[in-house]
Amino acid sequence: MDSALQTAALIVQAMQAMKQAYAPYSHFSVGAALMTTEGKIYCGCNIENAAYTPTNCAERTAFFKAVSEGERSFRAICIVGGKDGILTDYTAPCGVCRQVMMEFCNPDTFRIILAVDQKQYKTFTLRELFPLGFGPDNLL
Ligand code: THU
Repeated sequence: MDSALQTAALIVQAMQAMKQAYAPYSHFSVGAALMTTEGKIYCGCNIENAAYTPTNCAERTAFFKAVSEGERSFRAICIVGGKDGILTDYTAPCGVCRQVMMEFCNPDTFRIILAVDQKQYKTFTLRELFPLGFGPDNLL
């Protein structure tokens, strides 16, 4: 599959995942679709909590699902989000999610796709969104 088709598939899957968002407090729904280097896709949504801090972002839901299934190597993630699930703007990953990406992804090759719809999206490397990030290599 070429990279345009991969992007299209990830956008569709992220939008589907967003429908599962559990966001009764912020009413901000987020969906993520994470692709492994082998091309398998793991999806996630945000899961909020009445105590607020246990809330898990869509991106980390996708990563933790994948890692807990034995995956360790990732190519790209697509993120979509909006108030009441209506997509009007780009939703960028929070700092905690960028740090989790840093743990498992090569910052120079891992792609972060922020999408509003199939035609309106932009792509960044993790390095672009998380310059000078601290990761496993710093502990070598
Ligand atoms: N959220 C995500 O799931 N991912 C992001 O990249 C930004 C924020 C969630 C957390 C919370 O449930 C809601 O969006 C509002 O912050």
